[in-house]
Amino acid sequence: MVNRKKNLLRLGIHQVSHDHPMRLTIPRPKPIIISYQARPSINFPAYLPDEPFLSFGMESSTLKNYYNILGQCAAMKKLYDNIEKVAHSPNATVLILGESGTGKELVARAIHNASANASEPFVEINCTTLPDNLLETELFGYEKGAYTDAKQMKRGLLELADGGSFFLDEIGDLNIQLQAKLLKVLDEQVFRRVGGVENIRVTIRIVAATNRDLFDLVQKQLFREDLYYRLDVITIKVPPLRERDIDIIMLAEHFRVLANKEHGRNVRGFSEQSKEMLLRYPWPGNVRELKNRVERAVLLNETSVVDPDDLNLGAGHIVKNYPVRVNAVDKLEINIPSHGISFEELEKAVIRQVMDIAKGNVSKAARLLKLSRETMRYRIKKYGMNGIDDD
Ligand SMILES: Nc1ncnc2c1ncn2[C@@H]1O[C@H](COP(=O)(O)OP(=O)(O)OP(=O)(O)O)[C@@H](O)[C@H]1O
Ligand SMILES: [Mg+2]
Repeated sequence: MVNRKKNLLRLGIHQVSHDHPMRLTIPRPKPIIISYQARPSINFPAYLPDEPFLSFGMESSTLKNYYNILGQCAAMKKLYDNIEKVAHSPNATVLILGESGTGKELVARAIHNASANASEPFVEINCTTLPDNLLETELFGYEKGAYTDAKQMKRGLLELADGGSFFLDEIGDLNIQLQAKLLKVLDEQVFRRVGGVENIRVTIRIVAATNRDLFDLVQKQLFREDLYYRLDVITIKVPPLRERDIDIIMLAEHFRVLANKEHGRNVRGFSEQSKEMLLRYPWPGNVRELKNRVERAVLLNETSVVDPDDLNLGAGHIVKNYPVRVNAVDKLEINIPSHGISFEELEKAVIRQVMDIAKGNVSKAARLLKLSRETMRYRIKKYGMNGIDDD
């Protein structure tokens, strides 16, 4: 019981009472992690669609992952292909974009682990967590006597990453001066330690990630334009969870099994109602939010099956914010954003919405839009979605 309370507190759940809503806080990543990861011993292609491999020792061993990334939807398969492509172009700089909690860090590690340099260091720094002067010495190191407390020379993380990958997380928060120094590293692969005169040469792949709109930051003069164009060469976009319907339940099951193990619980699954809610919730915090909510549900659960109440998703958020809807008096409403929307985007939204309603069944979706199955299949393929074809 004491342990359970401790675990709840760790998850940010401070109060368990019917009168007071429970608070869920999302833990921040640690500031600096240096890890040296060996290439997995199995030699496998970019994506194995049917063969089970790397099972998690779960009840169902059919789950597959790609370097710890789970996901079977078309967008994720495309992501794995893109990772393979960039991984094989040595030292190419990569920019990973995606909303918070979509798995950008996992993608950065996958790029490193899929590359020929996988046995070399993977070094990571988060640009938001350190004050600027500390960030500079962490990145570039310093010479003895560079400042009062610098009793001896210290190598920076860029030097420690030599031969491997350097992951700059939250690059949108890097200050302008450090952006200039970083640009030099990207262009010439050289830098100087703080207080130093000697050029240090490194061979590294820089992988940067952000959930911010870098172009917007450039326009606001908060991000250097030259650095933006230097980074925006190979871009990998990680899709938000709400666009990965077929992955949601699989991920939820995965996190349930992990949480059972971690907390010594035996929650057997999700009720049909809670599955429905998981599919309808828009997941603003993406996979991280799903993981935390499932862990919380496993801890709080009293009946051995996760019920909607355990998920605490809140009635106000349950329905996705669809751009197209039919209102209570059967009138079609289309929400055109103020910045406009292409007809193609609108069509894609309609196809996604109808596929949601038809729970992925192609024939049913075709009937709902009064289209032939062939036309529906064509549209689904065109927009990279997955469907269950009962043909
Ligand atoms: N596809 C996935 N399969 C399994 N676990 C995932 C997946 N995507 C994300 N996760 C898990 O979700 C959590 C958040 O992932 P990660 O830290 O990589 O996200 P992020 O995009 O870097 O988030 P942020 O923008 O907040 O830094 C981690 O615990 C990660 O292991
Ligand atoms: Mg991250």
